Amino acid sequence: MTRYALLILPSANRVYSGAATSLTAAELAVFSESVLGGAASPAEVTKRGGVPYLEFDAGQLRPEDCAFLANISSLYALFEVTGGLLSPVELTRLDHYDDDLITIQKYQGKTNEQFTKLLLNVTLLASAFAPGMVSRKLTVLDPLCGRGTTLNQALMYGYDAAGIDEDRKDFDAYRAFIKTWLTRKRIKHKVSYDGPVRREGKAAGRRLHVSLAASKDEQKAGRTQELDVVCADTVRAREFCRPETVDLVVTDAPYGVQHGGRSAAGGLARRPQDLLAAAVPVWATLLRPGGAVGIALNTLVAPRAEAAAVLASAGLEPVDSPPYLRFRHRVDQAIVRDIIVARKPPAT
Ligand SMILES: C[S@@+](CC[C@H](N)C(=O)[O-])C[C@H]1O[C@@H](n2cnc3c(N)ncnc32)[C@H](O)[C@@H]1O
Repeated sequence: MTRYALLILPSANRVYSGAATSLTAAELAVFSESVLGGAASPAEVTKRGGVPYLEFDAGQLRPEDCAFLANISSLYALFEVTGGLLSPVELTRLDHYDDDLITIQKYQGKTNEQFTKLLLNVTLLASAFAPGMVSRKLTVLDPLCGRGTTLNQALMYGYDAAGIDEDRKDFDAYRAFIKTWLTRKRIKHKVSYDGPVRREGKAAGRRLHVSLAASKDEQKAGRTQELDVVCADTVRAREFCRPETVDLVVTDAPYGVQHGGRSAAGGLARRPQDLLAAAVPVWATLLRPGGAVGIALNTLVAPRAEAAAVLASAGLEPVDSPPYLRFRHRVDQAIVRDIIVARKPPAT
């Protein structure tokens, strides 16, 4: 057995106000059960030189194990502990772009970027596509994408990203941001559509479609990524996205606090759980068999059990292995956030 010590990003403590270690321990446990064959022991908090670490035992980690663990959302560094000394483990993150893709945008209502990465990771690791996390191009849909935090994280991983949000201000802000960023960073890209969309002769929303490549070599090899963002009500998602084309649905549902869910169909301030009841069956049809959906929700307004029932009645299987029940944490007085993940059964 080898002892490992994981150093958490200092910023995570600010983000999660005290819950960073327990959330990271739960995320590590999800990585372990999904792609390490359960090799990592439950992590414990220790202090070395006055600095807290999360420590666990495992057989010697192989480069392919480290390729997964490098992407733990709050990981700063990983060390092997030998005779009380820490020796750094070489880690290469999946990141395809500079991290300002994720960090530049600042606005009220932004889902924290570390939390977004956590949500994407644990959704992916519950899916049948987990073994391909660092080697395959997956397709991620955020059907309540706001100004694109999940889309940017998916692009960062080299995946295709699709998003829907009905808020025109959010759509316009993300459209302006991503077009400027791609140009300023001299990223090879092509805007293949940017304008209104019509369905049955009527205006149905706006759409931006961009193909991009992380480098000239990637572009030459045809390894491009697709970014597709639509401004429309998410319950109409089927009009913009073909059935069974999405590997993962990852979203941060409205918290029912500052800006409640809004829907053209449901009028102003639709309750978050009503929005989920209307939208989850639609999202489920877009998922490939073996795919997974991960939803962050404010349990003070949308109880986990209610969300689980909505997912189950859409034919999805809520994941309730122990680490998936350890993501509940307080954000502020009005928000106690949790993550619920469900799988679409693989094709038989
Ligand atoms: C918690 S926010 C997501 C924030 C996003 N992750 C980000 O970082 O920008 C929830 C989003 O759901 C959107 N929304 C609520 N109801 C919707 C509906 N029926 N159709 C599409 N989007 C909706 C809101 O406009 C809001 O942007």
